[in-house]
Amino acid sequence: MEKVAIYPGSFDPLTYGHIDIVERALEIFDKVILAIAINAEKRPLFSVRERLEMAKAIFKDMPNVIVDSFKGLLVDYVAKTNAKALLRGLRATSDFEYEFHMASMNRSLNPHLDTLFMMTSKDYFFVSSRTIKEVARLGGAVEGLVPDLVAQRLKKKFKIPIGKKDQIGWEV
Ligand code: PNS
Repeated sequence: MEKVAIYPGSFDPLTYGHIDIVERALEIFDKVILAIAINAEKRPLFSVRERLEMAKAIFKDMPNVIVDSFKGLLVDYVAKTNAKALLRGLRATSDFEYEFHMASMNRSLNPHLDTLFMMTSKDYFFVSSRTIKEVARLGGAVEGLVPDLVAQRLKKKFKIPIGKKDQIGWEV
């Protein structure tokens, strides 16, 4: 039987850290469904449509990666698939509490559903979508940490570079 894992997240935006998890998961699973959450409470930088489009382009040569989006409870989405496990990346112990709560809640909602954690590769343990957005917003380089397509889209979003005067923070 086909072994399917669901890798849920905001992916706002997708980083090489996420891609590394997907690639490694494919050594274990036959198929990985990258499920982009539509969360009305969050104000993402990229719309769901943009995130879907970028992820589909990035994984276009990997037929075992299905890019999808979901609304509502993750366990309800999982029930509509033949996935047996959820997949999440862990960067540091600081991720653990959030992940532990989420995995425990999901398991309480569906006792047959397990969450598997993969340690992020050492090259990406400091990479998060949040810090990527901050660096890009302030005009820093994110190349090598996110796919080129994402780096280009970030540049487009933050097209007004921060002025030198603003950076110094006082009148000179
Ligand atoms: O990348 P993120 O933002 O850490 O991903 C969090 C995500 C989307 C996996 C989580 O918020 C989620 O599963 N949301 C769907 C709503 C849900 O099922 N909540 C109950 C589980 S705590």
